[in-house]
Amino acid sequence: MRIISGMRPTGRLHIGHYFGVIRNWVKLQDQHETFFFIADWHALTTAYRKVSELKQNIREVMIDWITLGLDPEKSTLFIQSRVKDHAELHLLLSMITPKSWLEWNPTYKDMKYNLLKIQDLEVQFRGGLRDAVREFMGMIPYKVEDFERFEERLLEDLSETFISALFEGEIEPELLKRLNVSKREFYETDTYGFLGYPVLQAADILIYRGEGVPVGEDQLPHIELTREIARRFNSLYGDMFPEPQAILTETPRLPGTDGRKMSKSFGNAIFFSDTEEHLEGKVMKMFTDPQKLRKNDPGRPEICPVFSYHRIFTEKEKTSQIEEDCRSGKLGCVDCKRMLLTNLEAFLKPFREKRKEVERNIDKVEKVFLEGSERARSIAEETMERVRDLMNLR
Ligand code: TRP
Repeated sequence: MRIISGMRPTGRLHIGHYFGVIRNWVKLQDQHETFFFIADWHALTTAYRKVSELKQNIREVMIDWITLGLDPEKSTLFIQSRVKDHAELHLLLSMITPKSWLEWNPTYKDMKYNLLKIQDLEVQFRGGLRDAVREFMGMIPYKVEDFERFEERLLEDLSETFISALFEGEIEPELLKRLNVSKREFYETDTYGFLGYPVLQAADILIYRGEGVPVGEDQLPHIELTREIARRFNSLYGDMFPEPQAILTETPRLPGTDGRKMSKSFGNAIFFSDTEEHLEGKVMKMFTDPQKLRKNDPGRPEICPVFSYHRIFTEKEKTSQIEEDCRSGKLGCVDCKRMLLTNLEAFLKPFREKRKEVERNIDKVEKVFLEGSERARSIAEETMERVRDLMNLR
């Protein structure tokens, strides 16, 4: 089976990426023809303000992929933006994709919903400030030509500052948490590119006539859209694309160190590039059952992030013992974390060392991705020749 998947370059990889995604990719490359790429154009659908970080983020992902066992002898590893044909197919597919299919996409609806919530806040903020601004205007020692316009501008600037400060956590960090809006991107992505995210993703997959797409559950709507777009293309212009299947794999639950989803932006992630000291600091500060205040209080492993790590990094028998001793109050959290630290360090150490070696050979890594992109391009180009033929573009 031909398999394709991509990952947006958000920076160094953490253990959540490994257990959620990379470990499956590494297994698949032994049995299938596999293509894995860094989706840098997709990163721009949200992080278009942060292009200064893009190159470095791509570099970190390249290093981590090689470190974690993706093998250029077995997989084609490449960078999306090096294969321009994805953009051409995206354009052509956008012609046949009804806008409503995209507007129904859950990611897009989430964004819209968040946008509304933030706009509500902004309206409230402005309302509260209007009188104060008016008073302030009375104190300006110059003649203001257009009073109303100037007042609007002041309010505009103030609410802009308010929104920035809100997203940077300077104003009531609880507020965003309560609204469940974590990222500024979600409020600034009412763009054409973001709406078209799934069309680009469909192009990524279809251009290799991919049959299997290993992804997380959150991506299922995108794969379904890809299938619909493929069907529509085939019925309009002739049989061209296979309908790809999502490949879902059971993955262990691995929360961030604070119990929320592991994410770089929450500051709760454990990275393969972390030093032993970093790791110790993070593990010892991990959240545990809030009801277990003293060492000998009984705890509830089922809600404790430390325990979900033990399930992955500690042998089965020991894990059962930990569970029992936590519940009975025999085992304190500090000792429990110490045990975890030992096991986690044993897991991470070989990767940390390999990573350093890979990083020293960055030229070789770049060559891998350059050659991978060439290989990918030759296949993408074949598809595009046929697509252009079918659409009478030649
Ligand atoms: N949307 C995917 C994600 O966020 C990344 C991605 C882009 C992708 N293009 C793809 C995944 C094509 C699979 C196939 O995880």
